[in-house]
Amino acid sequence: MHMKEQLAKIREEALEAIRNTDVDSALDAVRVKYLGKKGELTALLKQTGKLPAEERPVVGQMANEVRTALTDAIATQKKTLAASAMEMRLAAETVDVTIPGDRTELGHIHPLTKVVDEITDVFTGMGFEVADGPEIELAAYNFTRLNTEEGHPGREWTDTFYITEGHDDPKNDAVLLRSQTSPMQIRVMEQKQPPIRMIAPGRVFRKDEADATHSPMFHQIEGMVVDKGITMADLKGTLNEVVKALYGPDAVTRFRPHHFPFTEPSCEVDMQCFECKGKGCSVCKGEGWIELLGAGMIHPKVLEGCGIDTDVYSGWAFGMGVERLAMRRYGIKDLRLVFENDVRFLKQF
Ligand code: PHE
Repeated sequence: MHMKEQLAKIREEALEAIRNTDVDSALDAVRVKYLGKKGELTALLKQTGKLPAEERPVVGQMANEVRTALTDAIATQKKTLAASAMEMRLAAETVDVTIPGDRTELGHIHPLTKVVDEITDVFTGMGFEVADGPEIELAAYNFTRLNTEEGHPGREWTDTFYITEGHDDPKNDAVLLRSQTSPMQIRVMEQKQPPIRMIAPGRVFRKDEADATHSPMFHQIEGMVVDKGITMADLKGTLNEVVKALYGPDAVTRFRPHHFPFTEPSCEVDMQCFECKGKGCSVCKGEGWIELLGAGMIHPKVLEGCGIDTDVYSGWAFGMGVERLAMRRYGIKDLRLVFENDVRFLKQF
């Protein structure tokens, strides 16, 4: 075959091979095969010396053209391969923002906390401050300074969790788990002079066996007002406003006489059942009324023990049980569910 034809054949074959490469390494192999030191084109060029002198320049020029053509084609194909590799990478890495995400389960406020928050909002809206104090308390604050002297049955170790040695030591410096939020009355009056308007939500502890309506730990909200000229009428007016704010304009309260060592006179306050409006239903267990709290005018001995002049000032206080209210509000039948934190239960609220 004449050298010119061989050159044409190499050019055609090589261009075809270049076009067919799909990766860089294949392209490199083609380059070596034709243009490398032992490549086909290189080998052919070495033979130009054997040609008749007049043909050499023509064939030489043609060989150079073939070399240039192949070199250019390789460069072009290299760019093409790089571009398509980039395209493939982009396609593979594309994020479809329309695919629905993984849903994360959201928690929410515990039903007890909801009730505390609601009641707290109503009182703060009426100008009450929120006070917080220790759950581990001295007998002096939980009992003595609340006019509950040593020997009072409420101080018995059978009812109260004593922490200090002796367990049954009801003395003033005995350390215990507070059995009521009422020690907050003393702690607040110790801190500031009247006028005082405060509520104190928190946990309290009593030696009660856990069942559907009892728990050794539960929540109370203490409330207290001390100012000039405060009477039972202020207590009644305030509590009526609170139940209306919580249960609507028709809500009514009822006051029954009662006894607490630290209030005189004392009362228990009921709210007309929000479900049946007094007719009697399953929520109020047929009574038409729901027990709300214990309250009364703060005993002068308690005020004086905190350095408050009872010729000038008087006050009232109440203690409200939170669990009972929450159970009625949400139709919870067993108190234990409230504390077990079983998600299947909590999800309902
Ligand atoms: N501390 C009382 C109780 O736990 C409730 C109460 C508080 C009564 C304040 C009167 C005044 O039963």
